[in-house]
Amino acid sequence: MHAPSKTSNEYFLFSAQVKEFSSFCNRRVQMSWQEAPLDKMLTAMADNDWKHVRNTISPIFSVHRLKRVELQMTQCCDRLLTALNNKAAIEDDIDVRAHMADYSLECIASTVFGQTLNCAAGTEHEFIGHAKAVLGVEAARPLRGLAAVAPTLARVLKRMLRVRYLPKETLNYFTGIIEDAKIVADDPKNQDFLKMMINAHRLDEEDEEEGIDWRRKSESSDLDRVPLSQALDTDEVLAQGLAFLFSGHSTVTDSLTCTLYLLATHADVQEKVVDELTIMTGNAAKVEYETLQELSYLQGVIDESLRLYSPTLRVERVCSKDTVINGLHIPSKTTIVIPIQAIHLDPDLWPDPQTFNPKRFSSEERAKRDPYCWQPFGMGPRSCIGVRLALMQMKMALVHVLSKFKVSPCAATVHPIIRDKVTGSPQDVFLRFQPRD
Ligand code: HEM
Repeated sequence: MHAPSKTSNEYFLFSAQVKEFSSFCNRRVQMSWQEAPLDKMLTAMADNDWKHVRNTISPIFSVHRLKRVELQMTQCCDRLLTALNNKAAIEDDIDVRAHMADYSLECIASTVFGQTLNCAAGTEHEFIGHAKAVLGVEAARPLRGLAAVAPTLARVLKRMLRVRYLPKETLNYFTGIIEDAKIVADDPKNQDFLKMMINAHRLDEEDEEEGIDWRRKSESSDLDRVPLSQALDTDEVLAQGLAFLFSGHSTVTDSLTCTLYLLATHADVQEKVVDELTIMTGNAAKVEYETLQELSYLQGVIDESLRLYSPTLRVERVCSKDTVINGLHIPSKTTIVIPIQAIHLDPDLWPDPQTFNPKRFSSEERAKRDPYCWQPFGMGPRSCIGVRLALMQMKMALVHVLSKFKVSPCAATVHPIIRDKVTGSPQDVFLRFQPRD
């Protein structure tokens, strides 16, 4: 079956995200990132600086490297189950987002920073307070708000008041983690993404086997060749660790929360997921990375959930040189917006768009659609670098939770999900978790 030919909208997306990538490589720089080391985060970097870091760290998300963090992730799932078990024993209405936020933070702490939190134990690990500072829970919120409406004024005030988004003690804490990681970065039994980034400039045998050649040019034919010997410096490694925290925490939390809500409110779909799981895993205590890849119905459920509730509502690009797409002249410095959530709910692309229907993602249905109609992770060379990690985290959590619990609506469940108007995060999602015997 042939994929349908592109409409002018899809052709525009393809041009901006891939074909004319050299004109649309960069995002608008947020004022909050204009301080060291936040300005070195992949999300904030531009042009050749971005290309160097992106090229260097891309291989840490290869399959064999993801497998190196499989054990840590399984342990995070075990802690999530313990927390849900404890809560379900005393309460009917469980705050799903709070548990998914703990799980997502545990995953980042252990797979990226090598720290074990155990949120459910009640003792607050030092990492949690510093992570909250990074995520901006307590940090200079008013100034961030001002930046959205009056960026120049906010920038001047930030300089005058000497406001830092990242408190000094938090910066020192994370720098300390990196210095410690450098000492043991070569230990194959003790790997996390920080250590893999420290060594990211070195190829290993498995990279060769997986066909990773870091010297190749990307599909955009625009990424420059990066010398293999160029290691990231401490600030660059730290900045990427923080970028993973910023980009990976609420996205995974929100996606898991919405997927569990959809499964609770569609019992037939939930049972199909559990049936697939039983067939593929039997009674195996541990689910391997390869098995996760074979759960095609679960994959469709996640894809449909990401369509209905895209954690990233829109992405932006700043045009760096005059460019013409479809006869439309886009002057240099123009900001273009790719409205991910609106594309996902367009009735011309998705019949009955508000209905949850995982069958839309069967291989036959996928083949009928242009790939640019579904892009929760963006598209092209600047798309989400953590997509494989995100899907692994989500599948692992869902497999563990659904094999132990039947999830259903409870008295406190609100229909439909209410989302924060600015961030899109689901609010007050309460569900019941009944142990499966
Ligand atoms: C369901 C979970 C996730 C979703 C839906 C998601 C979505 C996105 C989107 C839409 C972008 C922007 C793409 C663009 O501008 O075209 C992005 C960028 C990014 N994401 Fe994710 N993300 C998720 C999880 C993660 C995780 C777990 C990580 C951790 C490694 C991560 C790291 C990043 C980074 C570093 C970027 C910036 C890439 C660059 O500028 O080169 N994301 N993500």
